[in-house]
Amino acid sequence: MGYQSFYDNSISNPEGFWKEQGDKIDWFEAPEQTLYKDKGLYRWYKNGKLNTSHLALDHHVENGRGDQLALCYDSPVTNTKKSFTYKELRDEVALFAGVLKERGVKKGDTVIIYMPMIPQTVVAMLACARLGAVHSVVFGGFAAHELAIRIDDAKPKLMLIASGGLEIKRVIDYMAIVNEALKESTHQPEACIVYQRSFLNAPLKDGRDYDWQTLRSTAQTADCVAVDASDPLYILYTSGTTGKPKGIVRDNGGHAVAMRFSMEYVYGVNPGEVYWAASDVGWVVGHSYIVYAPLIHGCTTILYEGKPIKTPDAGAFWRVIEEYKVNVFFTAPTAFRAIRKEDPSGKLKSQYDTSSLRYMFLAGERCDVATLEWARDLLKVPIIDHWWQTESGWPMLANMAGVELLPVKPGSAAKPVCGYDIQVVNPSGEPVVANEEGTVVIRLPLPPGTLPDLWNDTERFITSYLSPFPGYYFSGDGGYKDEDGYVFITGRIDDIINVAGHRLSTAAMEEVVAAHPLVAECSVIGVHDELKGQIPVGFVVLQQGADIDEPTLQKELIQMVREKVGPVAAFKSVAIVKRLPKTRSGKILRRIMRCIADQKPYNPPSTIEDMSVLGELKELMEEKGIGAN
Ligand code: COA
Ligand code: AMP
Repeated sequence: MGYQSFYDNSISNPEGFWKEQGDKIDWFEAPEQTLYKDKGLYRWYKNGKLNTSHLALDHHVENGRGDQLALCYDSPVTNTKKSFTYKELRDEVALFAGVLKERGVKKGDTVIIYMPMIPQTVVAMLACARLGAVHSVVFGGFAAHELAIRIDDAKPKLMLIASGGLEIKRVIDYMAIVNEALKESTHQPEACIVYQRSFLNAPLKDGRDYDWQTLRSTAQTADCVAVDASDPLYILYTSGTTGKPKGIVRDNGGHAVAMRFSMEYVYGVNPGEVYWAASDVGWVVGHSYIVYAPLIHGCTTILYEGKPIKTPDAGAFWRVIEEYKVNVFFTAPTAFRAIRKEDPSGKLKSQYDTSSLRYMFLAGERCDVATLEWARDLLKVPIIDHWWQTESGWPMLANMAGVELLPVKPGSAAKPVCGYDIQVVNPSGEPVVANEEGTVVIRLPLPPGTLPDLWNDTERFITSYLSPFPGYYFSGDGGYKDEDGYVFITGRIDDIINVAGHRLSTAAMEEVVAAHPLVAECSVIGVHDELKGQIPVGFVVLQQGADIDEPTLQKELIQMVREKVGPVAAFKSVAIVKRLPKTRSGKILRRIMRCIADQKPYNPPSTIEDMSVLGELKELMEEKGIGAN
């Protein structure tokens, strides 16, 4: 079946379509109903019983895949490689689930995982899933304050921690960050289980911290616990338009079906093949395509603790592809831009045999045409740009390689994936004509696997996503559809920015900058950057009489943002301004500031306080070379 009829069927008959796909996973008890509503919200697979860890591991062991490699850990930063077969990984997960069970973790409990790209992190996630506990992985690049916010929201019974991470050569002391976060948070976990890494031994606090290996050495294995399809598998916090992150909830049933479906039909990969997502388990790409989808689909997944460059060079990706015979590869455009910058002619690539590679997928940020073309010419395989979000958990727009490879239009993430009825609308919610830019929305119901709710905050779920355009999911992205139905995503229309494929909130950075004693008011906006796609820039109005020069202020603010939000914010640029553009009611016109920085046209609102401030800003940005200026 070609793309169009397959897709049309998913939209005209969602229940039939997702019943058929749902039947392909190994339920303990089949669902009674495919699509239903609970408290007014759509849900999938009513009363279906399953266990995600069982689907990812035990199911394969029981069906002849026990000796196949499930997980290959490759760590150029520690010079370590280690592989696990499905049977070995299942046994390890069952044992660690036993550790958690002995510490009292049961179905429905929450567990925070603050760990880097090591096999124990994957084991921890799958062990939680095995018990029906809800994990929340926090990305290592966030600072203690961000971790504390997540601890207070998720209220974990336990925290699972590694002693440290390695950012190329810089050691990240995870335990110190945890200690600081726990000083700040109101909620305290009952215990922390700490995995000691060879390069950093964390001091353990009596009565609170337990050594991972010691507990493991005496543990009994634990079996999979049956959970309901609608029970949460994990919470993943992502940046919203306020300083408080959103706890995206993922259910077990819809997620398992969507993960399997996407591997077959979007990524065109077969069970037994090798799939590599070069991302981090702290992001949604890592959850879905390092851990859950490849394992549920019976693939071998690669866990790479390294960078595209400098570990040791810009040939790192090609080395991994050759060594593990990767069939399908997924990363962010920024990684390619970094490689291209170091090795523009692709000299390092020619040292490796990458002939196993069939497709290369890019997501996480807009893919510029030059990067796409460079990657295509270098790798000589289809380079597939696809669009999705933490909220969706799996691709919403893609060239569905497993169904029919459509002609590529650079700049477009191609067409809607099955289940996603994607529309581009004007502010009144009416569809715009072809090639006209508008807001990207998705008609409800969203397909299985997408967020059913926010953790403990249904009201915010409704106001953020469902209320702006009734009957639709509001994506927060702008874009347009061409006459052939290809969708072009042009960028966020809110205050979320994408820095090197990392999603960040400018509001969270503004909160920190505004707390500087000499800052009267400020605005942080994302501006175009050649390498990282976007970077944050702070525009600051000083308190009257404040005596500080720009370099000193910049240094202090950079340090404050690193300490409060984390190094991943990549906040490195500050400009002192006399005033900010505002409406007469005092609202800062951030969108217009972004347009000035990116040299895009804009219409100032009639309510603007003073037009001349826009000219001042333009001049300043030109002078300082901010954004596209
Ligand atoms: N733990 C602690 N610190 C981290 C971290 C982690 N897991 N990840 C990043 N950081 C730190 C970095 O060390 C850096 O710190 P520095 O300011 O002291 O140098 C800072 O956060 C910014 O990191 P990053 O934006 O990643 O920049 P970089 O210059 O280190 O690397 C790239 C640039 C392009 C190589 C890198 O961003 C990359 O590989 N991006 C791909 C992103 C990706 O996979 N996204 C997932 C979506 S698919
Ligand atoms: P995250 O939730 O971290 O996955 O970030 C989601 C956001 O990244 C989206 O809302 C988009 O703004 C952006 N994004 C992801 N993939 C793409 C893509 N292929 N093209 C353009 N933007 C993208």
